[in-house]
Amino acid sequence: MRVLVIGSGAREHALLLALSSDPSVTGLVCAPGNAGTAGIAENRPVDAASGPAVVALAREVEADLVVIGPEVPLVLGVADAVREAGIACFGPSADAARIEGSKAFAKDVMAAAGVRTAHAEIVDNPAELDAALDRFGPTWVVKDDGLAAGKGVVVTADRAQARAHAADLLESGHPVLLETFLSGPEVSLFCLVNDKTVVPLLPAQDHKRVGDDDAGPNTGGMGAYAPLPWLPQEMVQRIVDEVVIPVAAEMSDRGCAYSGLLYAGLAIDEQGPAVIEFNCRFGDPETQAVLALLQTPLAGLLLATADGTLDASSELSWSDGAAVTVVLAAEHYPATPRLGDVIAGADGPGVLHAGTKLDDDGKLVSAGGRVLSIVGVGADLEAAREQAYERLTAISLPGAHYRTDIGRLAAQGRISIPE
Ligand code: AMP
Ligand code: GLY
Repeated sequence: MRVLVIGSGAREHALLLALSSDPSVTGLVCAPGNAGTAGIAENRPVDAASGPAVVALAREVEADLVVIGPEVPLVLGVADAVREAGIACFGPSADAARIEGSKAFAKDVMAAAGVRTAHAEIVDNPAELDAALDRFGPTWVVKDDGLAAGKGVVVTADRAQARAHAADLLESGHPVLLETFLSGPEVSLFCLVNDKTVVPLLPAQDHKRVGDDDAGPNTGGMGAYAPLPWLPQEMVQRIVDEVVIPVAAEMSDRGCAYSGLLYAGLAIDEQGPAVIEFNCRFGDPETQAVLALLQTPLAGLLLATADGTLDASSELSWSDGAAVTVVLAAEHYPATPRLGDVIAGADGPGVLHAGTKLDDDGKLVSAGGRVLSIVGVGADLEAAREQAYERLTAISLPGAHYRTDIGRLAAQGRISIPE
């Protein structure tokens, strides 16, 4: 089968890498892609946010399956356009993608499905902000009610900082979501979902803050590892049963059945899982770690999800051991990253590209905030960490930064669920 992957991040590079090792895949196209995806797929330019443009490209490259990586095209209905054109598409409809695109919609679905999540209030009137802040915190959780790539969230024990962020959002016309703070370690659980059928992948953990020991602001994600040695075996099934299946069933009952990857972001405390957020797509950087361990051919799984033949009883097969991915970010990321710096050593094994491109002279340069995602695998988390950081030493990018502690607490046995 010929597969067209839409997107240009390290997540898409990881998807292409896994797809390229599936014997049923006869051709791979990535649009728009980056300098790294050009090594394993044919890169084609596309306006990924335009349904007609993606359909035209899918027809031109004779795609049997279109895989939509990022949330923006999904929220805009690009998967609907592809399916309406009669082409199999991995990714939810615009209606179903509201589970990520509107936090208010997600809260409403969870309330109806009886799924545990933070209590939330929407504030859209600046005059009501102070009274609302008084009903929350400390710690305050202030979010943008829309797509913000994780960067619209401020979690802080400082009321003034919480207020300033909320006031900024309101001033720029964005309704603000205030939430109760969920404690406990976080899990990202990716599930293949077709209507009410749910197949979970390995659980992973992201590292959202920019600096070591969770210092500094939230980012799109600075590194991840999988699986989670501190998570009891039965917890994945509990998350599926208590969170993902009820949400999938509720969406089906509402007439916006889910098809694609449903990403549950959870905090695990003494009462079990509580939802922090849902995303309507594979997470970045967790995908880079999770897919590094997947042995089941990926294209078959994505196609089965897309065409409705996904089997809930299918046991996926995984490599033993662990995988770690470390994000190499451009100087000043997550604020305004510096672009256009020359990157050296980025063609080794385990190096996935995100914000990279070839400049007019054919030199590899940085073209985004998160530039590369370096994956290591090993018999355990410590070995996977070692390989990822060893691979990173071969790479140079002026001004770049990365976290040195991805997966470290877990490897040291220092993550536990509150009792
Ligand atoms: P979101 O964009 O909703 O995923 O939020 C980004 C990050 O902020 C999450 O991964 C958490 O680390 C943190 N966060 C968001 N909401 C909460 C909450 N209610 N309680 C604790 N942490 C949160
Ligand atoms: N890893 C966070 C995200 O993909 O949204």
